[in-house]
Amino acid sequence: MRPLRRLAVLVLVLLPAAAWALAPPRFPGPQPRARPGASGVRGYEYETRYFRQRLDHFSFPGVGDEDEAAAFFQQRYLVGRGGGWAGPGGPIFFYCGNEGDIAWFAANSGLHRYYGESMPFGSKAKAYNNSKSLAYLTAEQAIADFAVLLTDLKRNLSAEGSPVVLFGGSYGGMLAAWMRLKYPHIAVGAFASSAPILQFEDIVPSTIFYDLVSDDFKRESLSCFQTIKDSWKVLDEQGNGQDGLLKLSKTFHLCQTLKTSGDLSDWLSSAYSYLAMVDYPIPSEFLMPLPANPIKEVCRNIDSQPEGTSILERIYAGVNVYYNYTGTVGCFDLNDDPHGMGGWDWQACTEMVMPMSYSENRSMYPAYKFDYASYAENCIKSYGVRPRPRWITTEFGGHEHTTSICALQLQRTQTGCDIADGSQRYQMAHACTTWLVGSDRRALDNVTTLSQRSGRRVLG
Ligand SMILES: *[C@@H]1O[C@H](CO)[C@@H](O)[C@H](O)[C@H]1NC(C)=O
Ligand SMILES: *[C@@H]1O[C@H](CO)[C@@H](O)[C@H](O)[C@H]1NC(C)=O
Ligand SMILES: *[C@@H]1O[C@H](CO)[C@@H](O)[C@H](O)[C@H]1NC(C)=O
Ligand SMILES: *[C@@H]1O[C@H](CO)[C@@H](O)[C@H](O)[C@H]1NC(C)=O
Ligand SMILES: *[C@@H]1O[C@H](CO)[C@@H](O)[C@H](O)[C@H]1NC(C)=O
Repeated sequence: MRPLRRLAVLVLVLLPAAAWALAPPRFPGPQPRARPGASGVRGYEYETRYFRQRLDHFSFPGVGDEDEAAAFFQQRYLVGRGGGWAGPGGPIFFYCGNEGDIAWFAANSGLHRYYGESMPFGSKAKAYNNSKSLAYLTAEQAIADFAVLLTDLKRNLSAEGSPVVLFGGSYGGMLAAWMRLKYPHIAVGAFASSAPILQFEDIVPSTIFYDLVSDDFKRESLSCFQTIKDSWKVLDEQGNGQDGLLKLSKTFHLCQTLKTSGDLSDWLSSAYSYLAMVDYPIPSEFLMPLPANPIKEVCRNIDSQPEGTSILERIYAGVNVYYNYTGTVGCFDLNDDPHGMGGWDWQACTEMVMPMSYSENRSMYPAYKFDYASYAENCIKSYGVRPRPRWITTEFGGHEHTTSICALQLQRTQTGCDIADGSQRYQMAHACTTWLVGSDRRALDNVTTLSQRSGRRVLG
């Protein structure tokens, strides 16, 4: 299951900076700072195909009004090769796309409308123009895309009898779980890795994600945790001092002089969150080239500087592990976001309202309490759209997870636990959790048997 564990990206509430020096939890955007040129998984062969997909699954344009150009778009999908499929009746494994370009990480992203090449209206500029053109960027539409595509594909392959198992990580894992709930006749089960399907409203404490990130640092070293916790204030003070921003830019080897110290705080905060998400015991290259146990390395760098080293120099030494492990980065560009974040920002401002706070004591961040009013205000300012914070739980459930989810036989497993050992009930919602969603136990057993027999997965 290792490839799945590597998908643990996500969660992400993007908030424009607020008054406080460190912007409110603004999470690892959906598209982590991927290295330019990062390509697909080695040795993974696939074929690229396109499918003419309907823009709006939930309305019926009149025949005369059905403007071909705007009513459909070309959806890109990949078909795994090199394995040999068992053929009609053989199981189909369907990877639900994420909030990213499919080419960024061939086996894990893509396929999702409005990301990568699967762009409605013919271009990104048009699709992302305003709230009207973005209106079709929703999880419901994305899941309906998958349902239509799978049904059509199975018909084309004369494989109507093939069981389908969905899988996905992070946001893609949420889609897999939700799709299984909504389309049980299409998929016999779903594997949802690191899928924060309960990170809505007050189902789990809004501080939980950053508390767990902080725990990871504290577990490595208390002084490392404390140095990070103390650094925000120092950073803020230095930023406000004479030539402060220039000095900070030098200390952190930035390419350009900072405009606000908040930009630097965001950049540091993102690094800590990503580190927690990919704190694998083996070297990895998913987000960035990193050593095994990267948090241990970061803390070692922070702690091992000679006596008299300032807090900010320690922080620089630590974060270098994340942003410059190869030692080849000349200077840091804080605006380096090759994939753009617009899509997730929109989703966060409409359906995906995930309250995120920093707790006062347990976290290593400055205390911050999620404030829906200012969140909504920013969305109205940015997109002219008002979020619907209760929609996801209305559409997919969540509050009654102990009953409804159990009734649906969602099983929690402890495999692929990326951030903490999900021992508490509350930790079920966050990135560490892996859900198995399936109501038809026998059909799932069948899939296991069938895939063991054919030895390969079919569609990735
Ligand atoms: C964006 O929308 C505005 C207002 O409707 C329109 O005038 C403009 O042509 C659109 N731009 C693109 C790139 O579609
Ligand atoms: C199924 O076949 C039709 C006809 O060749 C094609 O237009 C369509 O794109 C195919 N569906 C998928 C999901 O590839
Ligand atoms: C990256 O690491 C190398 C080698 O340690 C160092 O010389 C360089 O200054 C670092 N880059 C930045 C931006 O700090
Ligand atoms: C945090 O710790 C301080 C000092 O120990 C204590 O006074 C305060 O009540 C704690 N806050 C919370 C929210 O637990
Ligand atoms: C299991 O697969 C066999 C064919 O291989 C099929 O006849 C049977 O109906 C399947 N059982 C379930 C529960 O899907």
